[in-house]
Order: sequence, then C-alpha cells, then structure tokens
Amino acid sequence: MPVVLISTRGKDGVLNLAPWSNITPILRPLDEIILASWIKRDTLTNIRDTGEFVVNIPPASMSEQVMICSRDYPPEVDEFVKANLQPHLSQQVQVPGVEGCLAWLECTLVEEIIRKNYSLVIGKVVNLAVDQQSFNEAGEMDYEKAQPLSAMLGDKGMWFTRPVFGGRYAEYREMFTDKDIAATEK
Ligand SMILES: Cc1cc2nc3c(=O)[nH]c(=O)nc-3n(C[C@H](O)[C@H](O)[C@H](O)COP(=O)(O)O)c2cc1C
Repeated sequence: MPVVLISTRGKDGVLNLAPWSNITPILRPLDEIILASWIKRDTLTNIRDTGEFVVNIPPASMSEQVMICSRDYPPEVDEFVKANLQPHLSQQVQVPGVEGCLAWLECTLVEEIIRKNYSLVIGKVVNLAVDQQSFNEAGEMDYEKAQPLSAMLGDKGMWFTRPVFGGRYAEYREMFTDKDIAATEK
C-alpha cells in the first residue's frame, strides 16, 4: 500500500501529522482524491474544522519519522516538533507540507461519506508541488531515485517497502483493442 503523511491544522492552530495508507486518486484528471479515516482521528477532526489538508509523499528514508507521527498524541501536541520535521510552505492552503518529501498535494474538503465507524473523505487537489530532483523532464517520478515509501501489511506489523521496476513498460494504448481504435477513428 502507499504510505503518505497527512498534515492538518487544528482550529487552535496546532499542526498535526499522521501516516495514511487508505488513500487514492479518483480517476483522471487526478484532481480529486479519496481517503478512509476511522472516526477517532485528529486528522479527520482538523479536516472537518478547517476544510484543508496536505498529502505529503515521503521517501522511504522517512519511515522512522512516519512511525513517530503514527502515535496517538493528544491534539495539542505538534507532531512536526515530535518527529523533528520542518514545515514546507504551501501555496493555496493554510496548512504547511513536510520538508524533505517528494511531492505535496494541497487539498480542500469536498465531501464526506460518513459510516458508523469510519468516514470517506473526498478532497480536491488545489495545488500540486513536486521536488524537481525526483521527477524527470516528462513530469514522471523517477521512482528509483525518489524511493517513495510504501508498506506491506502483515498480521503483527508492516514491512516498509519501496517500488522497484517489475521488468515491463507498457504504453496505455496496449489497453485498447483494434475495435476500440477503429471506433475512435470514425
Ligand atoms: C503506515 C500507516 C498507515 C495508516 N493508514 C491509516 C489510514 O488509512 N486511515 C486511518 O484512519 N489511520 C491510518 N493509520 C493510523 C494513523 O496514522 C494513527 O492512528 C495516527 O495516530 C492518527 O493520528 P491523528 O489522530 O493525529 O490523526 C495508519 C498508520 C500507519 C503507520
């Protein structure tokens, strides 16, 4: 699963950071995302209170700080301070990102789908910033260089991992049959 760090700000101004794996873009043009949150999360409370959050993409080397942020600190604790992480200035939201990350998705709350124990939060990406050193000229992440953090979940714990090339590059057009192509040419 992917591992991101979500930064939020409480209505009292205190900054909060928490790792998140249940998160994905919602189809193209990739300007909306959805995340699943248990109800008892400062992150969820802050998103509801301020309508803003930043999805930070950490490198694998940040796994120690990620685990510090995963602890259940009370809302008045600034997790940037706890994890010794520095804020990265955001352009469109009042919440800072995390310095040293590979990309920063500045988001605003669009909608919540509330269930008994959890909530699905839909956010709009209002600004996307990337660390240029980790992306090539086509705007694609150089994942060998960037080493984005991911995780395999086991029964008792998680193995932090990072993507490696699986040995095959596929162009999107390979997904289409001759019939699909003929239909678009009509
Ligand atoms: C790798 C990882 C992924 C996580 N993913 C989620 C998630 O998708 N949803 C969620 O509600 N909690 C998730 N958690 C747990 C929260 O990060 C954790 O409970 C944290 O203390 C919440 O902080 P908060 O109360 O400041 O929001 C994850 C934890 C880790 C370590």
